[in-house]
Order: sequence, then C-alpha cells, then structure tokens
Amino acid sequence: MRDRHVRKSQLLTHVLILAPAVLSLAPAWALAQSETAPAAVPTSGFSATFTHFAVAADHPVASAAGAEVLAKGGNAVDAAVAASFTLSVVRPFSCGIGGGGFMLISLPSKDSKPNAPRIERAINYRELAPRAARKNLYESLDQERASLDGALAAGVPGTVAGLLYALETYGTLDRATVLAPAIRAAREGFQTDGAYMRAAINATERFVINKDYQTRFAFTWERFLGSGAIALGDTIKNPEQAALLEAIARDGAAAFYSGTFGKSLIEHVNADALITYTAGGRNPPRNAAWFTEQDFKLPRVDDGEPLTVEFLGKRVLLMPPPSSGGIAIGQILGLAERRGLATLWAEGNSASYAHQLAESFKFAFADRANYLADPKFTAIPVKKLLGAQRLDDFARRINPSHSYGPEYYGEPGQIKIDSGTSHISVIDGRGGAVACTETINTEFGSYLAVPGSGFCLNNQMDDFTTRLDKPNAYGLRQSEKNLPEPSKRPLSSMSPTIVLDADAPIIVAGASGGPRIITATAQSILNILVRNMNAADAVAAKRMHHQWLPSVLEIERGFDDREIMNGMGVSLWLRKVRQNVKDATSGAVVQLIHRTPAGTLDAVSDPRKGGAPAGE
Ligand code: GLY
Repeated sequence: MRDRHVRKSQLLTHVLILAPAVLSLAPAWALAQSETAPAAVPTSGFSATFTHFAVAADHPVASAAGAEVLAKGGNAVDAAVAASFTLSVVRPFSCGIGGGGFMLISLPSKDSKPNAPRIERAINYRELAPRAARKNLYESLDQERASLDGALAAGVPGTVAGLLYALETYGTLDRATVLAPAIRAAREGFQTDGAYMRAAINATERFVINKDYQTRFAFTWERFLGSGAIALGDTIKNPEQAALLEAIARDGAAAFYSGTFGKSLIEHVNADALITYTAGGRNPPRNAAWFTEQDFKLPRVDDGEPLTVEFLGKRVLLMPPPSSGGIAIGQILGLAERRGLATLWAEGNSASYAHQLAESFKFAFADRANYLADPKFTAIPVKKLLGAQRLDDFARRINPSHSYGPEYYGEPGQIKIDSGTSHISVIDGRGGAVACTETINTEFGSYLAVPGSGFCLNNQMDDFTTRLDKPNAYGLRQSEKNLPEPSKRPLSSMSPTIVLDADAPIIVAGASGGPRIITATAQSILNILVRNMNAADAVAAKRMHHQWLPSVLEIERGFDDREIMNGMGVSLWLRKVRQNVKDATSGAVVQLIHRTPAGTLDAVSDPRKGGAPAGE
C-alpha cells in the first residue's frame, strides 16, 4: 500500500524516475485508444505537418478526438467541441465541464457567391457570478482562500451551454458523434503524465496541509490525487463523468443544468458554501444559498463579433472583453509594427527587439488593469484602446535604450496570475478555423466535485477583484471595475487568436498560463510573422513576460542570449537598459497551427505540457 500522505519530494521522484521510461514506452494517446481508433493520425511528437486538417490540443487524446470527428466529415467547430469535451476528461485540473471558456470561429460563408463574407464569431461562455455574489463578499469572509477553494469560489459553469450552442449553431455533426471520444476516454481511462503530476503535486500539498479537504473534497482527493499517492503513469477512469456526458449527448444541456443532476449540484454546492460562510464561527447569511435554480436556467452564452486588427497586411481576429487578451495582443502587435520590430530582427538587433517588445507588454498590461472588465457592467473604450492615436503615443514613448518605473506606463494597479487552463487550435479541410481556450482557473479549480459528476467545479470567482485593499492570494490587485456582481463575468487573460491572409486562416493560436497567455501567444505569432521561424521553433522558443506590475521582466532559462557586443549578451543588455530581469518561474503553454506558404499545416502542441497534435 502506498503512503496516503505523499510528500512533494516523493511525488517529484516519481516524476523524475518514471518520466523517461513511461514516455518512451508509449505515448499517452496510445494508451487511451479504443478499438474505434480514429482514422486521422495522432502524433507522439509535439509538432507535426499535415495536408488536410489539424488539431493541436495540450493532450494527445484530445487532439486525436478532434481529428477523429474531422475524419468523419465534421468541421472545425465539431472538432473543437470534441477536443474540448475530451479535455474535460484528460485534463481535469485545467478545464472541463465545471468551467467556462471562449471560442473564436472563422468559417467560410455558407453562401457560395464569390467574396461572400466569412462567418466570424466570438463565443463567450465564461462562468457567470451567481446571483448571490456581492462586491465585498470575499472581504467579509473569514477564510483567506474563500475565492479559491470550495463552493464560494465557483461561478456558474458555462462550458456545456457554450459548447452545445457552438455545435448546434456552427457545427455539422450530432451530439452523440462529437461526444463519443470524450465518453470513451472517461470509460477507458487515461494515464497521468508529467503535466498531470505537476498539478497533482501542488494540490496534494494543499490537501496534506488542510486535512479537512480530504473529506470535504473527497472525490478530488481520492480519484484525482489517488488519496495522496497518485503516480506518473497511473490510469484514471471516470465512469461518473462518462455517465454525465452520455446524458448530455442524449438530452442536451438540460442534463447538466436541470433535472436530477442540476438539482444535486446546486444542493451539494450550497452545503459546501455553508462551510466557508460559517468559518471562524460566523453566522451564515439569512439566505446562504450560493447557486440557485435561477442561476442554472441555461446560463447566457454571448455570440458576438471578434475584434479585428491589421498586422503586416494580415487580418487578426481577437477575443473581445471580458477577455483582456484580445485588446492586449492587438496593442502589442500594433506597437511591434510601429516600432519596426521586423526590421530590428532582420538587422540582428535581438536585444533591442526584446527590450522594445517588453516595453509594449507594459503598456498593454497597464491598460488591462485600468480599463478592462465585463463589458456588460463597464463601458470599455475598445476603439480608443486599439486606436491609432493611443498606439502612436505608446510607440513614441518607447525609449529604445531605457526602461522606466511602472507609473510611466499607467496608473499603478495590479493584475493576478493563475495556472490551469487549456487551449485548442483547429484548421479543418474546408477553410474553417477555431481557436478555443477554456479553464476552471487554478489547478483542479475549487477542488469541489459534486458526487456522481466526475469533474471539479471552477474557482473562477478569484479572477474578479476579490479584495480591494489587500493583495489577493497571488499578492496582486485588479481594479474595482472587476469587482464581483450578480451575473457578471470575471476578467480573463484567455486569448484565442486567428490570423487570416486574404480570407484564409494562416495561424490559429492561443495558450494557457494566466497573464502569460497574452505574451506567449503574441510572441509565438511574432516568431512566425516577424522572425520567420517555423511553427515548432516559434512555440518552443524560450519566452519573456512582463505584466507591468510587478515590475519584473521574466525570462525563461535558455532564452536567446546571444552575444551582441564585447561579451555582452541580450539579458545583460536588457539589465543595462534598466529592465528588472529575473528567471521565469512559470510559463505559458501555446497550441498553434500554421498554414505554410506551401499549403501544409504545421501543428504544434507546446512541449511545455506534453500535448501532441493530430490530423491528416
Ligand atoms: N482563469 C484564467 C483566465 O481566465 O485568465
């Protein structure tokens, strides 16, 4: 019998000892294949080239699920929905039916007339704060982690409503076909990999410190953490989620939001909410219900226009707020063009390229903190933020040989960091593309899994500004525009992005990794369009990240530190121009597909998380 209380060092040993063996013996996708293996080819490497269609998710089984429905004649939306439901099973710590997300769609017109406009949509199914949410809720509670652990951390999940809306409105296949790979993965099980173990190690540590979590969040503890003894290569089966997905395939979203399951979810959540409300001996509020049937009447899915910017003659589709990433990436690309980064790179000025890109990150993140929130609650000056006047002004203020304090870039405020999250990129064989990012917020979300459901509810409430006067759990603050309110959506960094050249999708990209999503997605796109890298190198290249506050330029180890003069490397030069350079302690994970000028599809699942693309 394994020791139930596995220590971090023991778990790390599992990872280090077992990783090479398990990874070389069999790729994860092979171990979760069934007799109905997809016709399309899943790969075991992190990048591959296809000729017809491609899917890049951060787990090989999810990429294969998308490719399977494309091989059956589905379009990019069918594939994204299949991959997404499958991620709910195989990446239970990142995303899933207990969370929410954004989907950016670009499909050829249904109208066969020449030059008929493409169908371009931004679908928003991010969690909604329940009606019981209040601006000062978390300040009024005794538990420091109330917005992170347990029921009060959870927003009303939007994933099932959003994915089925996208499927019914823009997909071509039926629910049963699209959900089949996810149901199979849940019944047959998947093997834990390095990314799973990293998340499990962090969660196990918290469950060992807070022993009551082991009973309070029993499903997560027993099934996902193996009662503290989960090891690399263990198989996790999830018949509970399989049964729920089967019900969704049969009865649609009603199987999730109403009926027996919806009621039991609400009851279980409200029982757990009482634990947080009464912590520290406080009296519960008169109405201590956190979720109500009213909240669970099919949650709102917003289907709107993407933001569009021009970059080097290409059209870039971006996610509008409450994504902060769309506006931020639009600003970063606008500044890259204005500051001539392509020329700087071509002339070998890699240090100046890095410095000026970092400066653009600071302006973009200052605007994120000061202007962005749910547009249904706050007027967001999108035109101004992406307008030529503002970007010209920022470009003029970028000093090629000096960096400044945070107040130079915007009014001090602070932004938060999170992990978890997952991104899927798809290009189908008919000219369609989907970029889809989903999350339950931090790893294993709120840890709360309703018995019989097989998934963790999100802790997306922590993406709101939960405490105005104090830094949040990550030591950071956001503006009061992003305070929690009933039926409001928290600000997000998720940044699904599609680049088109003459109406053909040429890059589909996005990432997981909190605020690093924005800088990683922007750098991957710039690596292709400005640095002329191939897709694999563009994603694998070491990155930097600056989010304005804290005023630190994080650089991944191995960052291109070529010598630029008299023994001085890029990072030393960055210090010389007063960038506060530090080693990055965490990074983002990008999934990207690039249609090359030769017409092939280079698909990449970032090697940082162990995914692999699939296609044909
Ligand atoms: N919870 C991660 C994000 O939406 O930014």
